[in-house]
Amino acid sequence: MQTMFPVIAILTLMTACATTHAQPATSFTPGKVWPDDKGVHINAHGGGVLYHEGTYYWFGEHKIAGRTGNSAQVGVGVYSSTDLYNWKNEGIALKVVDEQGHDIQRGCILERPKVIYNKTTGKFVMWFHLELKGQGYASARTGVAVADNVTGPYTFIESMRPHAGVWPVNAGDAAKPSKDIDGTWAADRERSIALGSYLRRDFEGGQMSRDMTLFVDDDGKAYHITSSEENRTLHISLLSDDYLSFTDHYVRIFPGGANEAPAICKHNGKYYMITSGLTGWAPNPARSAVADNILGPWKSTGNPARGVNPANGLGPEKTFGGQSTFLLPVHGKPGAFIAMFDVWTPQNPIDGRYIWLPAEFEDGNIIVRYREQWDLSVFDRVNAGD
Ligand code: GAL
Repeated sequence: MQTMFPVIAILTLMTACATTHAQPATSFTPGKVWPDDKGVHINAHGGGVLYHEGTYYWFGEHKIAGRTGNSAQVGVGVYSSTDLYNWKNEGIALKVVDEQGHDIQRGCILERPKVIYNKTTGKFVMWFHLELKGQGYASARTGVAVADNVTGPYTFIESMRPHAGVWPVNAGDAAKPSKDIDGTWAADRERSIALGSYLRRDFEGGQMSRDMTLFVDDDGKAYHITSSEENRTLHISLLSDDYLSFTDHYVRIFPGGANEAPAICKHNGKYYMITSGLTGWAPNPARSAVADNILGPWKSTGNPARGVNPANGLGPEKTFGGQSTFLLPVHGKPGAFIAMFDVWTPQNPIDGRYIWLPAEFEDGNIIVRYREQWDLSVFDRVNAGD
């Protein structure tokens, strides 16, 4: 008996380990390694999720190990899931190409890919932040690709600086030559930026577009939301009916507010947005905003983060160590949204972690409370009856 006990204990432990590995996940554990169906940490950074015919598809930047992984060496990865906890690697949806001078040449910077489905054309449309190879973050473009199948392959169409020669609908005085905007640059730089000095500078060549997201409204209209004007002002643009190009209809939001990493959702007829400040890969305090109309006016509602991430001791002052990426509507649960954040690890980007947390609506604000482990049953209590 005395010798049997340890043997049984070891066998039990071995079985437990084997089962743990194969067992499907039933909860979210923010910030931890998140294995896919092959047991490999999910590689879909700066991502977005599309729900299509009973399945969620998570698109994101496919990183490789080491600093080289901060540029696109592979492309956009895609994973599928029916329960949001367990994800199957579906491969590379959009591949970078080796042709010299191509917009999405290997080594370009391709970030924050988002995919939407166009019910009329039956096509899947991907937009992403694109920086041409060898130019750092100077080109500030947005790119578009299209596919017949949700997991791809996506065909690259073009990249651009949008709205060349077009003023936003709320340009106001920015559309006219003005001493405040063009003349007082050195005297009051921040003020002239807020008034539209970069907007005027880029009027002919097209507006800058860096961190971006997409949003499809209930009426099927799709919007491109991006950090423009040297990341100082957000632009929200109505896309064409086929989602493949820009219309001339766009607005400036929070001029001079310096927002990036935009994520948007709609709940009970109101639009909610989470953004970050401008500190690159390093975390900063998140911001939130609410609007009755997606094109504004938007009202600032402060820092949405609540609580502390015990793994790194970071709370609202650093968004738990993460940066906003997407607000994911949970299908079939009205009022249920998952706020997705990336924890960037630029020294080894492939190890970047994901912080997914339930969004809560309190007093007309969107808030995000840290939880070490949670599952979708949270939504039976949070926002229930909203
Ligand atoms: C962040 C941005 C990321 C990436 C990074 C590069 O602010 O949100 O998507 O562009 O800067 O430093």
